[in-house]
Amino acid sequence: MTHDRPFRIEIVAPSRSYPVLVGEGALQQLGTALDETGIGPSRFVVSSPTVWGLWGGGFHETLPETAPIIVPDGERYKTPAGASRIYDGLLKGGADRSATLLTFGGGVIGDMGGFAAATYMRGIRLAHVPTTLLAQVDAAIGGKVGVNLPGGKNLVGAFYQPSVVVIDPVVLSTLPRREFRAGLYEVIKYGVACDAGLFDEVCRDIGPLTRRDPAALTPVIAACCRVKGAIVAADERETGARRVLNFGHTVGHALEAGTRYRRLLHGESVAYGMLAACAVAAARGVLAASDRGTISGAIAQLGPLPPVNDLSAAAQLAYMRHDKKVHEGRLRFVLPAGIGSAQIVDDVSEAELLRALRELGLGE
Ligand SMILES: NC(=O)c1ccc[n+]([C@@H]2O[C@H](COP(=O)([O-])OP(=O)(O)OC[C@H]3O[C@@H](n4cnc5c(N)ncnc54)[C@H](O)[C@@H]3O)[C@@H](O)[C@H]2O)c1
Ligand SMILES: [Zn+2]
Repeated sequence: MTHDRPFRIEIVAPSRSYPVLVGEGALQQLGTALDETGIGPSRFVVSSPTVWGLWGGGFHETLPETAPIIVPDGERYKTPAGASRIYDGLLKGGADRSATLLTFGGGVIGDMGGFAAATYMRGIRLAHVPTTLLAQVDAAIGGKVGVNLPGGKNLVGAFYQPSVVVIDPVVLSTLPRREFRAGLYEVIKYGVACDAGLFDEVCRDIGPLTRRDPAALTPVIAACCRVKGAIVAADERETGARRVLNFGHTVGHALEAGTRYRRLLHGESVAYGMLAACAVAAARGVLAASDRGTISGAIAQLGPLPPVNDLSAAAQLAYMRHDKKVHEGRLRFVLPAGIGSAQIVDDVSEAELLRALRELGLGE
């Protein structure tokens, strides 16, 4: 543990402002961070068996009075029934409207716990303590909470900002390698779409980052939170600027759905999605060939992606037609225009998409 002060990023969303604290050893200072944020003494924690088993001990030292509400954290448990188990735990523990719910886990626990906090007694305070790289750089920031329905992902939810987010990169040391790498693709996404300096930092420090050195991870995570925070401040409910963060996600979501959410992790499908968006942008002359090479080089540096060459390009196109990003029959698409800048367009044709998917190796 270092005694450096953690990075403090202020998120100024229209509905609420709150700090994001990022630092090595932040978990040990969680109690103090909550006190300083004005969080009351009635504190509940929701976590998963995996995360609590690995890191609950340290958490407990900080908040000795808190008995955890433990729920399974697979994507298939991110359901209204899962949220209901959290309500039960809160009720059993005597939580009233002065209570705060802390989520301690990956994006599944954050989204589902956040949804429970947004709805229990019409809303109690929420604090996120994310434990996957994806949740630290993305899911815990910005206030989207929700659960899945049999008909699709995140179909029930709310915009509900936390009161504080506390991020300790040390907990990433136990994350499975593939999960960690999947989070790094989202970091690359921020770099390409919004922040050339961040992109350069990731490429330069890729060694220490993949070794999960907290000294390398801390500023990179903080930079991602800063980028997402600025975008959320400008567009909390994703009606405009926030859409730029969907870079790589149109094709990404199609590949996830097309492989029934079994073969590719979300970040891995986003990596393919970014490569496809680069192919479309390069073919249009929006993205220079050298920038495209740099972006695909950064993605390749993290290792091979699970193969997709047995998938049909036409079938993925059908998934894209059903995407939430289709607006009045036109597919909104984020094209990289260089490193650190992107544009949102709605005129990418199916022929362009098919060509890009074939470049990724997909079949007819
Ligand atoms: N709200 C948002 O803005 C937003 C943004 C992106 C993604 N999401 C959501 O996030 C979810 C995905 O999140 P995720 O990738 O964190 O997956 P996850 O929550 O399923 O966690 C992945 C796996 O890692 C394990 N794990 C978590 N922390 C660990 C640690 N420190 N050490 C060892 N194992 C650990 C978990 O038990 C789980 O098995 C999706 O449901 C997605 O919809 C939400
Ligand atoms: Zn994503």
